[in-house]
Amino acid sequence: MILVNKVCKSFGLFQQKVLHDVSFRIEDGEFVSLTGRSGSGKSTLLYIISTLDLPTSGEIIIDQYHTSKSSSDAIHHFRNQQVGFVFQFHYLLPELTALENVLMPLRKFQSVIVNEKLELAKILLNTFNLEEKYHRYPGQLSGGEQQRVAIARALIMKPKYIFADEPTGNLDSTNGKVVMDIFRKVNREDKTTIVFVTHDEEFALMADRQIKLADGSLA
Ligand SMILES: Nc1ncnc2c1ncn2[C@@H]1O[C@H](COP(=O)(O)OP(=O)(O)OP(=O)(O)O)[C@@H](O)[C@H]1O
Ligand SMILES: [Mg+2]
Repeated sequence: MILVNKVCKSFGLFQQKVLHDVSFRIEDGEFVSLTGRSGSGKSTLLYIISTLDLPTSGEIIIDQYHTSKSSSDAIHHFRNQQVGFVFQFHYLLPELTALENVLMPLRKFQSVIVNEKLELAKILLNTFNLEEKYHRYPGQLSGGEQQRVAIARALIMKPKYIFADEPTGNLDSTNGKVVMDIFRKVNREDKTTIVFVTHDEEFALMADRQIKLADGSLA
């Protein structure tokens, strides 16, 4: 469960307010879209609910972790294990190949699970039409190909929560649909809670529920 309680966020010297008193709840297993105009605060909110950033006031409760009470170590550990994040600008490591980037979240874990994960990484890359590109570096991939590698990386740990910021933003409609179908499948089969930002009305409607932002408040 994710509980967003009276979250405000301000930035900069003049404390420009970007989120105003935002409250909502997302149940386990929900598939939710987050929409709103450019600059309405979607990325900011997604960073905060995924514990990558802190609110200026208010709090997030995700699983049993409270952003205002739990230790940052506990939250960090939870995030490593249970949260997959797809960034608006995908942040692949340039010195790793596509396959190595997908496997990156496991580096800290035991080698015995690596074979199973290697298979899963290949299955994910194949699903995203990247079977020919395992050994390419990000600089040798198109923007949309890099985006799909980043999505595979978010799925590799089978996290309980996935937060995706415009995951289909760089993709043509066929590959956009592939990504949405994978999200839907993971949501149905593994009960993964998924929150994704989109500007695409058709994809937004694929969610069970839409959360809309306008100027930093729920619309
Ligand atoms: N680190 C920051 N410092 C200062 N202002 C910021 C920062 N991050 C975001 N903002 C401001 O907060 C507002 C909301 O930004 P945000 O990135 O959340 O919008 P968004 O809804 O994701 O937009 P888009 O659809 O263009 O991605 C914008 O006005 C932006 O300029
Ligand atoms: Mg954004």
